[in-house]
Amino acid sequence: MRSTTGWQADGHALHRVPLSRRDLRHDDIAVRVDFCGVCHTDLHSLRAHDGKGVLVPGHEFTGVVLDIGSEVTKFRVGDPVAVGNIVDSCGVCTMCAMGQENFCREFPTLTYGGTDRHDGTTTLGGFSREYVVRDRFAHPLPSELDPAAAAPLLCAGITVWEPMRALGVGPGTRVAVAGLGGLGHLAVKFAAALGAEVSVVSRSADRASDAIRLGARDVVVSTDPESVEASRDRFDVLIDTIPVAHDLGPYLRLVAVDGTLSQVGYLGAISLETMDLLVGRKKLSSGGSGGLPATTAMLEFCAAHGITADVEVLPSARVAEALDRLDRGDVRHRFVLDLSDLG
Ligand SMILES: NC(=O)c1ccc[n+]([C@@H]2O[C@H](COP(=O)([O-])OP(=O)(O)OC[C@H]3O[C@@H](n4cnc5c(N)ncnc54)[C@H](OP(=O)(O)O)[C@@H]3O)[C@@H](O)[C@H]2O)c1
Ligand SMILES: [Zn+2]
Ligand SMILES: [Zn+2]
Repeated sequence: MRSTTGWQADGHALHRVPLSRRDLRHDDIAVRVDFCGVCHTDLHSLRAHDGKGVLVPGHEFTGVVLDIGSEVTKFRVGDPVAVGNIVDSCGVCTMCAMGQENFCREFPTLTYGGTDRHDGTTTLGGFSREYVVRDRFAHPLPSELDPAAAAPLLCAGITVWEPMRALGVGPGTRVAVAGLGGLGHLAVKFAAALGAEVSVVSRSADRASDAIRLGARDVVVSTDPESVEASRDRFDVLIDTIPVAHDLGPYLRLVAVDGTLSQVGYLGAISLETMDLLVGRKKLSSGGSGGLPATTAMLEFCAAHGITADVEVLPSARVAEALDRLDRGDVRHRFVLDLSDLG
């Protein structure tokens, strides 16, 4: 086994502990984790953690290849690399065959809290100094991209990129992004760079200057009925990144005839008034993470357009502060942990 250090949940708090990583299999690489984004999913996971099992969060990270397995040709020691929230899949089902490993019929192996397909162990995430991953699920990090600011592309970015591409977002598409957090701010940057007309739907008008700096034309203030009414039936695509259960009605009313609301933020049971779909033949969709081809395409697009996340980088010892501020919405727009303080 390989020894490293990481931040492991004890109750709802994280503590610095020694961790073990598996010895390299023939198609594994070992990655020195330099930067790992703090996703709202990490907060959900910590809250839901019942003390059973081991939880080390973190599923969007960049680093450098430390070591390679005997049959690895994709990477060499020293290569910059990026890893997201999926680290394995069956590789043979219809979903995997079409490059949608994120929808693998055997369920993809998640970067943390997943079950390794070979040894049955629980995967431990990127809030640690080293990670061992199957080479297929690691991505070469384009040299144009800053490694700290690129880390959030691997979860927040791909989660909004794939549904937007699948929904045909491009020049002239009218796109709304609800929630200007980690996912939302990248959705705005992507949609604007794809040539779409982007608006932000936020609880507060305070977000306006930020939204416009990121590429949006305007802000619909979800708490202001007049602002909402003025944008009724306006958007071809609405990407909803709100992290809590909420009434979809007001958001569906913003969607144009035959348009789609893609809910990627809140995952769980919802209740829906079908009249909100009926009027305007509106569609409700979702998405999660992305397949390997879409992730490669997103990284190429980001390199070509100079897109990374807006990040606040903190030493990993300040992870509790990052989680607390994320919980309060006090982040512009993604915290990234610098793991170098783990040695
Ligand atoms: N589908 C997937 O595979 C996937 C992948 C990654 C994350 N997620 C989920 O996506 C969600 C967003 O993640 P994130 O990291 O972007 O979170 P985040 O940075 O906290 O951003 C969420 C944004 O939603 C808005 N918001 C927050 N609380 C709200 C509330 N009570 N009511 C209405 N709006 C609220 C805020 O924007 P304003 O202040 O502008 O209103 C906030 O900035 C989380 O639930 C996360 O678990 C899903
Ligand atoms: Zn995430
Ligand atoms: Zn599969």
